[in-house]
Amino acid sequence: MSEHETSSETMGEPTRRDFLYLATGMAGVVGAGAAAWPFIDQMRPDASTLALASIEVDVSSLQPGMSLTAKWRGRPVFIRNRTDKEVEEAKAVALEELKDPVARNANLPADAEASDLDRSAGEGKENWIIMVGVCTHLGCVPLGQAGDFGGWFCPCHGSHYDTAGRIRKGPAPENLAVPTFSFVSDTVIKIG
Ligand code: FES
Repeated sequence: MSEHETSSETMGEPTRRDFLYLATGMAGVVGAGAAAWPFIDQMRPDASTLALASIEVDVSSLQPGMSLTAKWRGRPVFIRNRTDKEVEEAKAVALEELKDPVARNANLPADAEASDLDRSAGEGKENWIIMVGVCTHLGCVPLGQAGDFGGWFCPCHGSHYDTAGRIRKGPAPENLAVPTFSFVSDTVIKIG
């Protein structure tokens, strides 16, 4: 056997193995791709879900002291136009008295304090409070204008929230959550 023949034979073997390895690898990739596609497709939100990603609510009919409940992403959202008295009562509460001192306001940093201003729609719009209407205990829907603090009362196990939606008494551990929102105009609030 010449030197030339030997080298061509030893180079031929790995080439065939490489081809087999490559072909098997390709099959694996194609198989994984075909299996993954249906899952990715199912995870894509359909048009009706996207439509509910945010809602706009006309609050022009809400006089001070009135509230409405909107539905957003399958959950109730309370919007209340608080009276001056309700705002004053909430402002007068010292932070040390609060069971949950955190604002729970999606529009603010996670460590923002639960002052009335930071629970409300903010400077100049303190009368407005917008919250997800789900009790932070076990998820019942609290009743408005009720309870020992004139805010919301959850009859399931007796949680009392004040006029800023802060938990003041009962088993609920956290203040009612304030969702992401913005005023599109003076009378329309976009939630989400
Ligand atoms: S679910 Fe509201 S108090 Fe238990």
